[in-house]
Amino acid sequence: MYKSEQLAHQLRQLIESGTLKAHEKLPSLREQVQLSGFSLITVMNAYQELESRGLIYAKEKSGYYIANTYAEHDYNAPLIVSLNSNIEINSLIFKYLKSIQGEHIVPFGSAFPSRDLVYSKKLTQIMGQIARNKKSYDAIDNLPPGNFALRKLIAQRYCMQGIPTDPDDIVITSGAMDALNLALQAIAKPGDYIILQQNIFYGAWQAAERLGLKVVTIPEHPKHGFDLDAFEHILKTYPVKLCWFMLNSHNPVGFTVSEDIKFQISKLLHQYQVYMIEDDVYEEMYFGHKKPLPMTYYDQNNLVLHCSSFSKTLGATFRVGWVHAGKYSQHIQHLQLMSTISVNSLLQTALVEFLSNFHYEKHLRNLRKNLQHNKLLFYRYLELNLPPECKIEYHPSGYFLWLKLPKNIDSMPIYESLIQQKIGIAPGQLFNITAQKQHYLRINCSFEWSDSVQHSLDQVIVTLQKFIRDE
Ligand SMILES: Cc1ncc(COP(=O)(O)O)c(C=O)c1O
Repeated sequence: MYKSEQLAHQLRQLIESGTLKAHEKLPSLREQVQLSGFSLITVMNAYQELESRGLIYAKEKSGYYIANTYAEHDYNAPLIVSLNSNIEINSLIFKYLKSIQGEHIVPFGSAFPSRDLVYSKKLTQIMGQIARNKKSYDAIDNLPPGNFALRKLIAQRYCMQGIPTDPDDIVITSGAMDALNLALQAIAKPGDYIILQQNIFYGAWQAAERLGLKVVTIPEHPKHGFDLDAFEHILKTYPVKLCWFMLNSHNPVGFTVSEDIKFQISKLLHQYQVYMIEDDVYEEMYFGHKKPLPMTYYDQNNLVLHCSSFSKTLGATFRVGWVHAGKYSQHIQHLQLMSTISVNSLLQTALVEFLSNFHYEKHLRNLRKNLQHNKLLFYRYLELNLPPECKIEYHPSGYFLWLKLPKNIDSMPIYESLIQQKIGIAPGQLFNITAQKQHYLRINCSFEWSDSVQHSLDQVIVTLQKFIRDE
């Protein structure tokens, strides 16, 4: 370990243990040199490392401060929610999606990264070349389970992470949502118990509702993201058939669960013979050196169905996804033949070319670098300018910031006020339907910093100030 890493590690432990508290000032660089005995350059590198991980932030002409990374959560006991056939969640989501798609709406509420970051000229060229070739219109090769060469390339990516995978384990789908729905249909039947995280991508609520599942929700752990005790408690208490979790770059909260916790989850899945559908659409958006592992890595019994897609890394135009289904591959293909039939042939063929020539890796490296940069700028600006009652949950991956407002502030009227000002944000109600009011909101911070971004963020800040003042 380099000396700067050693120092960063020591400081990180003090932050995580709560010894150094949010907004506390760190010793200046020179004071730290005196205290630690390390050189100035080592101290500077350590502070930069902590800053890039969002654990500390710099105030101009003042120094470094501890960030409020581990914002306290409202910690609730596991809660059972039985969804019925009313379409409340669907109509809320429909209204919301329509509103943020309006013309000239600032896309802070969008679930997709900035178009500028995901657009690939190379991929567009490849598409053009393939489209001119008559053979590419031959869809036969691309019928379920999907283009063999593409499945082989995806299987190789799993193998590179130490997960032995055969191309036949993979089924290509129309995006991750299709993969998740097919996986769910393959495992669950109406009336089954499913565990969902308390805050989760709204597609999970919709899917559970559509299949008539009984939902038990598990709260996030304020520090580790996932609460193993609560998980075990639910497994002991309810006849759970399956769970649907996001453990890497969670949407909307942003955390990535540690590898140790994933290992413990897999042990519990095995012990209670519970299936898990893993939504891992943000798996490529890590900022560290190592890609976090999917649960498939720990799964010895094919209890995990891992779902992901290219829609977040290449844009919604490339809505091609997959499920690592293992022995459920055949069953999923049957379901697919009864629903979407096959995935766009041209897109599958173009992806084969793009992935096999390493263009994708290069694209991902740039994407991660830009996301990290943009997210940090949003975070710093908000940290400095938001009313002090608001807490920001920052995690070094993905492109969302999760804002916690004072308890008595409902994020829905804030969203409605901002949409009048042509600014979209995602109110907490979209992700957690167990409470009428939610004092959380999600901001997409993948956009390149500009005067207009700053101006829009100022409008968000002023609106929040107004709501807090008027309460
Ligand atoms: C957490 C999560 N899962 C799944 C999806 C759906 O992905 P796709 O667009 O590939 O269908 C989204 C899209 O917003 C998402 O945010």
